[in-house]
Amino acid sequence: MDDKIVLTGVKPTGTPHLGNYIGALKSLIELSQNHKTVMFIADLHALNAEKDATKIKQHSYEVAALMIALGVNLENTILFRQSDVDAVYKLTEFLMNVTPKGLMNRAHSYKAMVEKNTEAGIDVDAGVNMGLYTYPVLMAADILLYNSDIVPVGKDQKQHVEFARDIAGYFNNVYGNVFRLPEPVISADAGIIPGLDGRKMSKSYDNTIPLFATESELKKKIMRIITDSKTPEESKDPDESTIFQIYKHFANENEIAEFRKMFIDGGMGYGTAKNILFEKINSVLAAPRAEYERLMANKPEIDAILNDGATRASVIANATVARVKKAMLG
Ligand code: TRP
Repeated sequence: MDDKIVLTGVKPTGTPHLGNYIGALKSLIELSQNHKTVMFIADLHALNAEKDATKIKQHSYEVAALMIALGVNLENTILFRQSDVDAVYKLTEFLMNVTPKGLMNRAHSYKAMVEKNTEAGIDVDAGVNMGLYTYPVLMAADILLYNSDIVPVGKDQKQHVEFARDIAGYFNNVYGNVFRLPEPVISADAGIIPGLDGRKMSKSYDNTIPLFATESELKKKIMRIITDSKTPEESKDPDESTIFQIYKHFANENEIAEFRKMFIDGGMGYGTAKNILFEKINSVLAAPRAEYERLMANKPEIDAILNDGATRASVIANATVARVKKAMLG
């Protein structure tokens, strides 16, 4: 255990799939084993796009249950709902006053909206609410509240962590050394995880395999993976195969080498390969899935963990806000 604080937020916007697991969740769980970790469900970050409270609530339970079921180390980890810690609203408001508007104009997700609107020939800010526009300030508050050192994120979130660092820098320049500067750590690139149709696994392509699909659902999905039309006898390229590309994230080195050889040697049909993939994923995920289902049927147990997390998080967060308030208002 080193004493670096790892921080991460997961937005509750949809049922997590294998791509999310391989790309991010797996390494977060591993990091939590030997780091002090602050992990929260970023429900406030969902608000700019999701207006259905029931959905946010449901997905928040799913994210929490998922993390617990996958084995996040709850001794080292403070796990909570972002919206349960009042200090985050306060720090966001304070940070607004040192955040240049121009910085927000450069945020990728805002810029993407502007470009889309420009192409459509409509007002550049059509459909942009202030939640979207100031999303990076809320995220900076998340990161700075807990004195985090390391923020492991995917490439798409790197700019947000850099902004948090910039905002902390602007603040420190004016008010003295109040914030610790966080580092974005880009999670080891797991490469692109293909979905059922071979394109990147993504909710927007509707080609995902849900992480905790029931056993029969999992099997059905895997059987639906699109392959080429090679006969069982023919040699196949594992690196071109969705089946193999997913398999390699669940198996050990020997198993991967063996499966690779079976592709190249020929003599294995895709039906057989899919069965091998199914058995492998199922053996890895069966126990966490059962725990996930147990937790989802026991929401008070999840609430107890999250409430305890919020209490512990608030102690750290309130101290930060007190420091900031003193620096800014005396
Ligand atoms: N914006 C992140 C996402 O969409 C979620 C998030 C919110 C986050 N606050 C954070 C991630 C702080 C890392 C640190 O995935």
